[in-house]
Order: sequence, then C-alpha cells, then structure tokens
Amino acid sequence: MLTNDQSKYDFATLAVRAGQQRTGEGEHAEPIFPTSSFVFESATEAAACFAGEIAGNIYSRFTNPTVRTFEQRLAALEGGERCVATSSGMAAILATCMALLKAGDHIVSSENIFGTTRVLFNKYLARFGVETTFVPLIQLEAWENALRPNTRLLFLETPSNPLNEIADIVQLSSLAQAHGCLLVVDNCFCTPALQRPFELGADLVIHSATKYLDGQGRCVGGAVVGDGQRVGEEIFGFLRTAGPTMSPFNAWVFLKGLETLQLRMEALSRQAQALAEWLEAEPKVSRVYYAGLPSHPQHTLASKQQSGFGGLVAFELKGGKAAAWKLIDSLKFISITANLGDVKTTITHPATTTHGRLTEEERLAAGISDGLVRISVGLESLEDIKKDLQRGLDRMAQG
Ligand SMILES: Cc1ncc(COP(=O)(O)O)c(C=O)c1O
Repeated sequence: MLTNDQSKYDFATLAVRAGQQRTGEGEHAEPIFPTSSFVFESATEAAACFAGEIAGNIYSRFTNPTVRTFEQRLAALEGGERCVATSSGMAAILATCMALLKAGDHIVSSENIFGTTRVLFNKYLARFGVETTFVPLIQLEAWENALRPNTRLLFLETPSNPLNEIADIVQLSSLAQAHGCLLVVDNCFCTPALQRPFELGADLVIHSATKYLDGQGRCVGGAVVGDGQRVGEEIFGFLRTAGPTMSPFNAWVFLKGLETLQLRMEALSRQAQALAEWLEAEPKVSRVYYAGLPSHPQHTLASKQQSGFGGLVAFELKGGKAAAWKLIDSLKFISITANLGDVKTTITHPATTTHGRLTEEERLAAGISDGLVRISVGLESLEDIKKDLQRGLDRMAQG
C-alpha cells in the first residue's frame, strides 16, 4: 500500500500507511513476521532468489517483511529512495562507515555529536585507518579548513545534543558537493516531522529509532536513509554480511511510533517552548539552550530550516555540578535517565553521563559545563513538570 505512489500523499498519510502490504488474511494492522528464514516453492526458486534474479525473502538477517515495511515508511517520510534498518542507532552509523569508507579515508565531524559516536570514530575507526577531524558544528570556516583530499564524509547532528546548536545544512551540503564528499545528517532530534535534510542537500540521513521514532522508550533500533546505490546496495550489503539487523518485533513497534510521530513532535515542541521560556525567567538558571527562544544564537536559521524546535531543552545552573545533582535528586516523577524522545519527561546531567567518557578538555570544548542539565520534555501536564522542577530549584536555595 502506498509504495509506488508516495509522492502523491502528505506526510501524515504516509506516516500511517506507507509500506504496508496486506497478506491474504486481510489484517488491518501491519503483521509481525517473527521468522528467521523463508521457504521456497522449489530449488529453482531458491537459487534464483539467492542469486538476486528474483525478489523475495531469504533470511531475516537481511530480508524481513515487517522490517521492510518500517524501512519503506521511514524512507517515504524522509523523502529518500531507500532505507536500511539496523539494530541500533550506533549500528546505523557503523554500517554507513564500514560500507562507504576504507583505510586512508578521512571524516570531518562536528565535535558536538553523541559521545559514543565520537568514541566510534576516534577509537575504533581510527584502528582501521580512518581518521576523523572534529570541528565546531556552527563554524563553517572550520569545516572548510579541515577538509583534506581524502575526506569522504562530513558528519553532523543538528540540532546538537544537548546544546541545541543548529548547523546550516544547505551551506554544508554545498561544501560537501564542492569537495566531492558526502554530507551525513543524524536527524535523531528533529525527525522528518520537523526537518527534512534531503530537501536541504544532505546525502544520507541517520536515525537512532530508539528516540523519537519509537517515542515511548521501548526498543533500540536505527536506520540509514539515502539513495538506492549507497543505501540499497552498499549499506544493505554490509548489513547482509555483518548482521547488525533490526528485529521484526522492534520494526513493528517503530512502525506504530511513526504513526503518531508528527502529533508527538508538534506537542513536544509546544511543551519544550513553554518550559524553555519558564526556565529563562528563573533566577537560578544562568542560560537556557533552546532554538525556539529568540535569545538562541541560531534562532533565525532554526526557524527557516525546521518546522518546529523539538523536545530537548538544556539549561545551566549557577551552582555547577552540586546544584545540578541537587535538582535532579529532588525530582518526584521526572525520570533520571539518559534516554530521550519518550512521552515521559527525562532528565540527565550530561557531564557525568552521556559525555562522561570525553576528557575534560573535550567536554568543555563541546560546551558541556558541570552545571548543565538536559531535559527531554514529555507529554505530562506542563504544570506538573514545572512543579517537579520548581521543587528542585527551591531545594537548591536551601543548600
Ligand atoms: C544523536 C544520536 N545518534 C545516535 C545515537 C545512538 O543510538 P542508539 O542508542 O540507538 O544506538 C544516539 C543515542 O543516544 C543519539 O543521541
């Protein structure tokens, strides 16, 4: 359903319908195919399928109908030709690098990326002869200066986590194109409901489906979206060989998540905006990082590039780490967890969790101070969220 004629439909329709193929049972919801392998009518059919002469399911490491439905739906929402689903967001990044890079290649990456992605580049890819230069996300000149003849990928997250810095995707895609390399955008925080990187010139889009695509904190998964050659052949080929595959059960959960993605992202953006404005007026908070605030340095760019500002709000407390921990430990219902993108509000202290593996120098260069707190706003009553935080802020005053 809606596989060949997706361009005729709006985002909301694709989110609910794209990719579904009904079986002969007439089921309304998408079925889950929990099967490791598939059977053939004959030896001839099996041989033709293995040889790629006919399309068909072979083995769920690389072909599963539920996973395929998720891939087709996400590709439709991002406006990409093909999508490959992976076992996690990190597996999506690893598969992209393993499929498209070789020893001697070079990556230019934003330094404001998920800490584990940084470790993947710095520690593991480096062992296989792929070097990475890290640059500040928003300094175009630094990206330009870091380019080498062997640079193959520009890698970034925008908005960045946790500081909500915004990269100009159009400018970076021009730079990548001029240099003959690929622009890879991790679209985890906006999702295609708020930002469509392909329309701005990106070559590949990465997801940690674990976050907003699921939206209810249930499963770990990831995806890469892009053109038929790179994603459909090369990255798919790596997945087939190396096996960091999404399970059909997880694909089904993510499919259900996609169905409510737009509604959730709009609602979370409204909640986050109101919370950011409230925090900005709080005397114990020295700075709020949310691109929906006119005080945010890239507010104008974010307003142009995104259709909403998302659900992540970061803020700095005047009392440093002690104040941040006091606030967090005073909360009654906001969950202390580093995960984000859930309908439940979560809070974390980046310096000692998500960015704890960076050296102090790297962490401070990335703007992660000791007093920084990140909230992933959920769908609870905004008044209740504020009351929970207010309690913590009041306790801070008591020392
Ligand atoms: C922006 C971003 N990309 C990738 C990942 C990795 O995703 P996963 O945890 O699904 O492997 C994360 C995880 O937090 C993330 O925040």
